Amino acid sequence: EKEGYDHFMLKEIYEQPKTILDAMRGRINSKDSRVALRGIEEYANRFVRADRIIIVACGTSYHSGLIGEYLIEDLARIPVEVEYASEFRYRNPILSERDIVIALSQSGETADTMAALELAQRKGAMIYGIVNSVGSSIARLTDAGSYIHAGPEIGVASTKAFTGQVTVLSLLALTLARKLSTISNTYFQRLVSELELIPGKVEEALKANDHIKYIAGEIKDHHNALYLGRGYNFPVALEGALKLKEISYIHAEGYPAAEMKHGPIALIDENMPVIVVATNKSAYEKIVSNVQEVIARKGRVIAVVNQGEEAISNIADHVIEIPDTEEPFSPLLSVIPLQLLSYHIAVELGRNVDQPRNLAKSVTVE
Ligand code: M6R
Repeated sequence: EKEGYDHFMLKEIYEQPKTILDAMRGRINSKDSRVALRGIEEYANRFVRADRIIIVACGTSYHSGLIGEYLIEDLARIPVEVEYASEFRYRNPILSERDIVIALSQSGETADTMAALELAQRKGAMIYGIVNSVGSSIARLTDAGSYIHAGPEIGVASTKAFTGQVTVLSLLALTLARKLSTISNTYFQRLVSELELIPGKVEEALKANDHIKYIAGEIKDHHNALYLGRGYNFPVALEGALKLKEISYIHAEGYPAAEMKHGPIALIDENMPVIVVATNKSAYEKIVSNVQEVIARKGRVIAVVNQGEEAISNIADHVIEIPDTEEPFSPLLSVIPLQLLSYHIAVELGRNVDQPRNLAKSVTVE
């Protein structure tokens, strides 16, 4: 079943060009510049009139939810909040019929996410699911939804479900942006054409695998790691850190790069690998200076940059290049090297990659 791969996780990482394509199939067509998510079309009025969208999820799905917030606010201009389902359900949240609560879940069986949806439904909000497992509890409970069609995910560390969720959230943001006319036609068309190119660019990003394996060997004996990113890539930093923690058992934290100087910079010395996602166009200069700050304190920098980048590449200890894309889609590419990096570190350390200690694939108890 692993189809020649050593682990399900590696197989699932490599499946992503196809699973991202599957998440888009029948939902996007750049020739006639069309994006359509059926679940949204059915409830178009509710979405167009929504005061607010609240995304609830746990773990990796929470991280894709954060990217969803950036996408929907940036492109469709609807206010979005993202909450850990476990917090949301117990804090007596304010909700009305004009709110839409979207649950993100690979398994569709996560107890806290399910309970958050039930609460939202009782309070009259419309509930929408972005789920992988067909026919799962969350899929059955929701008023409407979109499957991500990634196929079964066996590795406990979520990879292809994450990129599948981000793909569907991108389609959702584009669908709403079109309906609400919040972006220009030219920009819309550019984004639609670019999204169709993403599977090929993921394929390209995967080619850095051997180089990433080498970098993994260089940093595997450290006990801590810091992941930094800005804007769309801040949630990617969180996701990279979670991936490292759960399968290699190395302590890691993700931070917005600019937040570093408010505390974590005190941790930086030659024993602290700092993984910087430095692909954002809008914040590029700022991230260059964040990297300089780390290097000035002797931190070891592993940077994920766009092909041909120079400023950071010249000063970082290790550089991983990925293809360029429109900024809203950069997480779909920048997460790939971070998945591979934690995979190779865990393998080097002899960890049980597909079934890390203390973890279950779906958390069906709170
Ligand atoms: O099935 P779900 O997406 O609802 O699961 C949520 C989390 O339990 C899950 O993402 C978990 O954090 C993964 N082990 C992350 O790799």
